[in-house]
Formats: sequence, C-alpha cells, structure tokens
Amino acid sequence: MDLYEAIFQSAKLGIVISNDQGVIERVNPFANQLFGYEGEELIGQKIEVLLPLELRERHVAHRGDFNAHPRARAMGFGMDLAARKKDGTLFPVEVSLAPYERLGKREIVSFVSDITERRRISEELKTLNVELERKVGERTQELSQAFLELRQSHASLREEMEQRKKAERAVQEALERERELGELKSRFVATASHEFRTPLSAILSSAELILRYRAPGDAEKRERHIQSIKTAVRNLNGILNDFLSLEKIEQGRVEYRPSRFSLVGLVQELVGEMRALVKPGQRIHHRHRGEDEPVLLEKTLLRSILLNLLSNAVKYSPEEKEICLCTEIGDSEIRIVVEDHGIGIPASEQKHLFETFFRAKNVANIQGTGLGLNIVKSYLDMMGGVIQVESGENRGATFKVLLPKTREPQP
Ligand SMILES: Nc1ncnc2c1ncn2[C@@H]1O[C@H](COP(=O)(O)OP(=O)(O)OP(=O)(O)O)[C@@H](O)[C@H]1O
Ligand SMILES: [Mg+2]
Repeated sequence: MDLYEAIFQSAKLGIVISNDQGVIERVNPFANQLFGYEGEELIGQKIEVLLPLELRERHVAHRGDFNAHPRARAMGFGMDLAARKKDGTLFPVEVSLAPYERLGKREIVSFVSDITERRRISEELKTLNVELERKVGERTQELSQAFLELRQSHASLREEMEQRKKAERAVQEALERERELGELKSRFVATASHEFRTPLSAILSSAELILRYRAPGDAEKRERHIQSIKTAVRNLNGILNDFLSLEKIEQGRVEYRPSRFSLVGLVQELVGEMRALVKPGQRIHHRHRGEDEPVLLEKTLLRSILLNLLSNAVKYSPEEKEICLCTEIGDSEIRIVVEDHGIGIPASEQKHLFETFFRAKNVANIQGTGLGLNIVKSYLDMMGGVIQVESGENRGATFKVLLPKTREPQP
C-alpha cells in the first residue's frame, strides 16, 4: 500500500471522490462510517445522496457552477451545512472541496468532518457564555446594590457618629455646668459662713455686754449695743435676701410684671430709706432731668437694682463723701447714674464685676458677699436694660443703667 492509499484508508476524516458529473467513485472507510454505508454501496451513486432531501436539487446547480470555476475551497463557508446518513438522519458537517485532474479526467475530492461534537461544544459554550454574562450581570447588580448599601450605611454611620459627638458634647456641657455649680456651692458655703459669722459674733458680744450694763446709768451703752444688734440682723437679713433672689433668678421664678409709676417718687422713697444706712456725713444727692412722666417698668426689680447700687456706693466710699444719683427720662430710654467718690474698682478686675461672689481685691475688710451686682445684672437682662461702669482704684465709681422706656411684658 502506498503512502496515499494508507492515508486514504486510515484517515479519521471522511473522503469522498466524485467525478465532474457528481458520481461517487471512491469513499474511504471513515466516510462510510460517517454516512452509515458499507463497502462499495455508495460507488456509482450521485453525490447528492449524501445531502438532505430538500437541498439535493439546488446542489446539482451548485455543482455546475463549481465545475465552471473549479478551485479548492471550503463548502458553504459560514453556513450550517447538514449531511444525510443512509438511514435518513441528518448531522452537521464541515466540507472542503479540492478539484484535480487525473488521467485527463476531472475529479473532486471532498473532505467531510462530522462537527456534531464541535457544534454541541460551541452550543454549550454559547449557553455557558450567556449564563456567564447573566451571572456577571447579577454580580454587578449585587455589587452596585452592596455599594449603595455601603454608602448608605456609611452615611448613617456618619450621622450616628455626629449624634454621638453631639451627645458627648451635651454630657460635657452638663458636666461643666455641674462642676460650675459645685464650685458655686463651695464658694457659697465659704462666703456664707464668713458673712454669717461676723454679724453673729457681733450680736453675741453685744448681747453679752448688754447683760453686763445693768446699772441705770448704762442706758446709753445698752442702746448702742441694741443698735449694733439691729444692724447685724439687718445685714444677715440682707444676705439672706440676696441668696433668695439668686435662687429665684436661677430657677427662673422671678416675676416680670411692669406697671406705670413715678420714677422720681420711687427714687425719693429709696433715698429716704438709705438715710438710715449712710455713714456719718454721707449724703445722697438726687437730681432728675426732664419730665417726671410715669415709666412702665417692673418696680420691685428696679427698686432692688437701685438699692444694690446705692448700698455699694455707701459701703465703698468713706464718711463725709457725697453720693450722686441722677435720673433722666429721655425719648426712648431711662438713664440712671449712681456716682460715688470711694475706693473705686481696679481696672483689671472690672471684667468680673457681675460674676457671682466676685469681690475686688481692694475691699479689705468691708463686708459683702459679692452677689449684689450679679443680681442687678440678671434683673437688667430681664428688663432689657444694660449697665456700664467707669472706675479706677481710689477714683470712685460711676454705674450707669440704661433701660428702654416702654417695654411691654415679656412672655
Ligand atoms: N461703688 C463701688 N465702689 C467700689 N467697689 C465696688 C462698688 N460697687 C461694687 N464694687 C466692687 O464690686 C464687688 C461686687 O459688688 P457686689 O455688690 O456684687 O458685691 P458686694 O457688695 O461685695 O456684696 P453684696 O452681695 O452684699 O452686695 C464688690 O465686692 C466690690 O469689690
Ligand atoms: Mg453690694
């Protein structure tokens, strides 16, 4: 067997040789196997026998065309070719044609491969691809959903963190307030015990002395000590009143009920009351400018403001010094000025003047709790007023109060 014959016989590829009339002249064993024939069964039959029934007629025409321009080529390029087995079943094939001449005759060799398996795999591949694409689509969807959720949870996390920070700040502030309150309480205890002890020991020693001055000639001495007891009790009463006012302010229990009254009338009343408290030679001089028209203000608060300012002026200035109280009702505001010529307030300490329990360093042993001006400031805040101070150490002090002329009740 020569080489070509050996290839022909053993090739795992169907080889069908036909003449230019389409008559099959030779088939190799693999072609027989492919098409389900045996031995020489196909020899002498038209090549169309291997085609599906409906293509046979058209193929005869194709064959004519091919014979007119014979060249080696793949058959039905890009088309799904089908072949027909002896039992009529169809199967997909790939065919390539090669024309040649032998012994002066044209012959055509067709190489036929069964591509059932390849087709199946490619179909499977296609399905797999589709499945893969679907999965990729699904995953992409899932990913973008997850991304969206992540972004949302990031946002809510940020919100939560902000809320937590806010809560922390609130706790911090509450702690700070608590600390301030604690400090205030301890300052209160220190001040109160000091301020209470002084008048109390004055009362005690006066009472003991009164007991000793029993002789009828001691009446004057007794009277003096009774006076000091009275002053000490008034002092204690004043301190208690201040504490009570402070408590009321802090709890927001101060009532604000403005009424119309004469400012000059009120001031004269106060100047009269102060007469009992001034030091020897001190005189409170009142001057009013403008009309004495009735003002619409909360009288109790204004009375307390003026009493605090006047008692400071008396307390912090020496005997024989004049204290001026000027009032003025302008077009839109009421001005009240209290001026003394006493020890004054060091400039560096003035910024603390209205703080609770603040007392300047130069007060020496002049008694006080450091509450008066704090109460004044709180009342003025309520009344929409302001207070200014002009002073210097040993240069006296001038307190100016400005109040809006008409102020309807605040809710
Ligand atoms: N007219 C003034 N002259 C000098 N210093 C003053 C005057 N008024 C207030 N001060 C200073 O301001 C501080 C605070 O005054 P404030 O009236 O609040 O308290 P206080 O007079 O010490 O005590 P109190 O609570 O009894 O009034 C005083 O301790 C004092 O140092
Ligand atoms: Mg005071």
